[in-house]
Amino acid sequence: MSRLETSLSGIKLKNPVIPASGTFGFGYEMADVYDLNILGGISLKGTTLEERFGNPTPRIAECENGLLNAIGLQNPGVEHVVKHELPKIRALYDGVLIANISGFSVDEYVKVACAFDNAPEIDILEINVSCPNVRHGGMAFGTDCAAAGEVTRAVKEKTHKPVYMKLSPNVTDIVPIARACEEAGADGITLINTLLGMVIDPKSGRPIVSTKMSGFSGPAIKPVALRMVYQVASAVRIPIIGVGGISCADDVIEFMSAGASAVQVGAHNLVEPFACPNIINELPVKMDEYGIENIKDIIGRSLAL
Ligand SMILES: Cc1cc2nc3c(=O)[nH]c(=O)nc-3n(C[C@H](O)[C@H](O)[C@H](O)COP(=O)(O)O)c2cc1C
Repeated sequence: MSRLETSLSGIKLKNPVIPASGTFGFGYEMADVYDLNILGGISLKGTTLEERFGNPTPRIAECENGLLNAIGLQNPGVEHVVKHELPKIRALYDGVLIANISGFSVDEYVKVACAFDNAPEIDILEINVSCPNVRHGGMAFGTDCAAAGEVTRAVKEKTHKPVYMKLSPNVTDIVPIARACEEAGADGITLINTLLGMVIDPKSGRPIVSTKMSGFSGPAIKPVALRMVYQVASAVRIPIIGVGGISCADDVIEFMSAGASAVQVGAHNLVEPFACPNIINELPVKMDEYGIENIKDIIGRSLAL
């Protein structure tokens, strides 16, 4: 067994590093930059039932220690993704492929999930009940226990692959929502999605991003994400994928110590295209420095300290 190996619901990952949904396209776009097969997994761009153009521009803005985005789930629709995108990425990549699924009704979540459940290329279904950048949906399902449980239950009833519910940090208490998902049959939890934020041009006073408010991510949100992973890991028995502000091997070690079985790297891919390979190369060096034999051994170690 490799020192970096980990697993999610019995599925082996060669290492815990996964590019986060929305920051890595459908994966194959990056194949000329580096060998994708070094990655533990890839979380694909958020997909809806119908094709979406997304929000008007500007829909991305940098700020200190992070960035705001309001892409609005631009994607070609699930039929196109299953037919054209999945074969392309699977031909290039032998690791774990995670479908990231969005919807505007429970029925839509189920339909998209079923399409990916039937696609042999996909290993894990990640249900995004946390997108802050679309009206009438997304985050509304992830900020209410009953709604999050309802989506989980409905998807689990009709699918066979592991279902990971991706939660929103825009709540007072993340724990009851994670518990509601677990009780409804979720196989795992991914957290966190972006925090609702804002940037204003100081000269004109005009909000910079077209939707005015948008999703804040990057290094500044790491302590919030880490706190939520720790809280949820203390409260549920299912595996957690930690995400939020990760940019180096030490960040991965922190998230796994807090209870994550694997991690996702988001905004940092946009700053440094080699973010994931750099982290994967740095991990064994840090593990040697800290006396960690296998990365799996540290999952949740902070909970007992
Ligand atoms: C440009 C951009 C697009 C994103 N699109 C999606 C998406 O389609 N689905 C999703 O679940 N999360 C999406 N996210 C959220 C990320 O997957 C991640 O949860 C969040 O950015 C926090 O991680 P980070 O601080 O490493 O960026 C997006 C984030 C960014 C920056």
